[in-house]
Amino acid sequence: MITSEDLPRRYTTADLGVLTCDERRRFVRGGDADPRADITLAWELLYRLEPQLYDRLVSAELLHPRVLGWLPRDAGLIVEVGAGAGRLTLELVSRGREVIAIEPARPLRQILTRKLAEADHGDRARVIPGFFDDLPVASGCADLVVACSALTPAAGHGGEAGLAEMERVCTPGGCVAIIWPNHLGWLAAHGYEYVCFPGPMSAEFASHAEAVELARIFYPRAVAEVRRRGQRRVPYDVLGINPPRDLAFKQVPA
Ligand SMILES: C[S@@+](CC[C@H](N)C(=O)[O-])C[C@H]1O[C@@H](n2cnc3c(N)ncnc32)[C@H](O)[C@@H]1O
Repeated sequence: MITSEDLPRRYTTADLGVLTCDERRRFVRGGDADPRADITLAWELLYRLEPQLYDRLVSAELLHPRVLGWLPRDAGLIVEVGAGAGRLTLELVSRGREVIAIEPARPLRQILTRKLAEADHGDRARVIPGFFDDLPVASGCADLVVACSALTPAAGHGGEAGLAEMERVCTPGGCVAIIWPNHLGWLAAHGYEYVCFPGPMSAEFASHAEAVELARIFYPRAVAEVRRRGQRRVPYDVLGINPPRDLAFKQVPA
């Protein structure tokens, strides 16, 4: 049952039934897994039970323009893993001949497919199901293999197998890019270089009311300050998270 609490308390074990077998195998650790105690599991339930709510959040958390500017402009095939509702995907279509967007959560695939069609990009991008550790694409097929705010060292969310899969799919001389990375040491140990773009950054909510409502769910410690400011733009340091201003990348040897 969905309640109006903040994300860690929003779902219960009764909601785990929404996961497919393949998803359970990756996201549910142990027989007593509980989304109230496992925030990554709560996020997985959000993607499936309230995908529009998730889309409202990411619509406010825009990537730094220089992150987008860093991406190649003339790629052949681009493969994106964990594409979600398409925050990055919509930007990728103008940078490659074709985009394959891989996303396990069916409701997010539906949102992304609709957005691509509305933007008249339906013929340039394919949205397909799949997981980091078993990418449903051929070895060496893509000039750019990218993930945004999706890959972690945890096996269920990529891990060693997921990183190896991204590199398998990348053509020799191509690039694997992890945008808005969370585990820099892990990526550096795998030969990834790091780029971070400076400057103040704010989340851009649709309205002040939307900022307060989403902060209640996703940034409960920031609610009072978001309310006090009375603005739809909220600096990331107020929200208490790193801004989406960085990336890690590796050129796959030719
Ligand atoms: C925080 S969201 C980011 C979505 C999108 N890349 C963006 O930046 O808006 C994380 C995404 O990773 C996906 N994901 C989680 N585990 C995954 C896995 N094992 N393989 C592929 N994608 C996964 C989720 O379904 C979700 O869409």
